[in-house]
Amino acid sequence: MEKDFLWWRDGVIYQIYPRSFADSNNDGIGDLQGIISKLDYLADLGVDALWLSPIYPSPDRDFGYDVSDYFDIDPKYGTLADFDQLVSEAHKRNLHIILDLVLNHTSDQSEWFKQSRSSKENPYRDWYLWRSAPKGQQPNNWHSVFGGPGWQYDAATGEYYFHMFVPEQPDLNWRNPQVYQKMMDVFRFWLERGADGFRLDVFNEYFKDAQFRDNPPKLGIRAFDAQVHKYDVSQPEMFTALKDIRTILDSYPERYAVGETFLASTEEAAAYIGPNKLHAGFDFNFLSCPWNPQRFLKVIMKWDSLLAEDAWPNYVLNNHDQRRSASRYGQGENDERLKVAATLLLTLRGTPFLYYGEEIGMRNVPLKRSELQDPVGIRFWPIPVGRDGCRSPMQWNDHKNAGFCETMPWLKVHPDFVIRNVTAQQAEPDSLLHFYKKLLAIRKATPALQKGSFVPLTYEPRRLLAYLRQDAEQTVLVVLNFGKRKVRFAAGPRLRGDWQLLLSNKRSSVPAIKDGWLPLMGNEASIYIRKS
Ligand code: NOJ
Repeated sequence: MEKDFLWWRDGVIYQIYPRSFADSNNDGIGDLQGIISKLDYLADLGVDALWLSPIYPSPDRDFGYDVSDYFDIDPKYGTLADFDQLVSEAHKRNLHIILDLVLNHTSDQSEWFKQSRSSKENPYRDWYLWRSAPKGQQPNNWHSVFGGPGWQYDAATGEYYFHMFVPEQPDLNWRNPQVYQKMMDVFRFWLERGADGFRLDVFNEYFKDAQFRDNPPKLGIRAFDAQVHKYDVSQPEMFTALKDIRTILDSYPERYAVGETFLASTEEAAAYIGPNKLHAGFDFNFLSCPWNPQRFLKVIMKWDSLLAEDAWPNYVLNNHDQRRSASRYGQGENDERLKVAATLLLTLRGTPFLYYGEEIGMRNVPLKRSELQDPVGIRFWPIPVGRDGCRSPMQWNDHKNAGFCETMPWLKVHPDFVIRNVTAQQAEPDSLLHFYKKLLAIRKATPALQKGSFVPLTYEPRRLLAYLRQDAEQTVLVVLNFGKRKVRFAAGPRLRGDWQLLLSNKRSSVPAIKDGWLPLMGNEASIYIRKS
């Protein structure tokens, strides 16, 4: 029988960028012992699972997303023993561990790639995508999303290998049965060590066209965008792999996989979720939503309507690749809108994903070009500026380097840490941190907020969003004013009866509904529950 509370469906997932979370050995880089030292903080915050961006050995050409060994922990983060300790300490606190598996490509420093590039006859040759081309030409017209051609010439054997990301991230050949089996072994290895789930990096990129056909052209400014990505992504063989991955996961209790799609429409992303496929996937459209209730509602309705009945939505305002929501929506140091955004995220029908520092409203750190670390920023500055801005060290307190480390951190700390940090917000009852904690506690205590249906009450909203979350026992009303002026919401017959205030950033009791209108203060976020 299915459990009432499924951690990955009914809980909340918190993404940690391990490099920047907590540094236990003072080398300027976060590590596993650092995370262990913060587990009480995370349990107290009220999240249910931690997704760790990659922690495997990596030369960091793409900060962990270039893995040189899938079966170990990078010494800068700790050891396998530290990982085991993390799993057992997390489990003691009811926190689940989700690992980031980057299986589309390895680092060029992986033993497999070193072998592969050494000669055409090497048994590992076919583990990667090698092609030849006449002098001065490329094997086909595929590009790297990080800029330039997708093919890198390798003088040792006079052939090209394909890389969707930087040249130091050669793509694996998933059509090779040994590679395929090895990838399945990676899942088994970490499941055996107690991982509860996986986030699959660009999983729909695993397979490419077997004939390496040219992508058809289309209009676009960058070369990468001036083609339809018909042959270098989302090939149908993916479904067989998903089925096999799912079979492995299902042979362990309550394990989970969430997929990051690459260049996929919402429709395509939705098609990868369900039985025999992934448990969940991302639709990243919140990440580019302007501060407009109608746009948010559209994203929600579209995502929800495209998912199969037994598939479960996710919602995310932040991750390690995008400008932080606090920078997108916050106004200066004002967090009013962030409380509205948090209430939206944590009251939707779908698993909310938080990103470290979101709970204290961390902003993108402003960086000079010379301070950049991200290969994308270094290559394309100033448009785009790269992804470093959202990866700065966690702001724990107002001590040196925000309490992250004593020495020089790998990336600059946001200078607002003197006022914006965990300790300061813990001491301030109205802080964003306390608001997130209350939201998380209410979601956990209210089954209708987890699995209840989502019933929008505003259709083409310009200023506010109102919706119900309902199950057989409970009806919850959420009202969110996106604007700074007072508004009134037409409380139709559905809102008759007695309501109790569960949480509000602006009021302490239920307001009088005069002549059928529910009043809202500027930037109000309130949650009511119908009294039984
Ligand atoms: C998606 C990850 O989120 C991003 O950070 C990374 O650069 C690429 N995949 C390549 O692994």
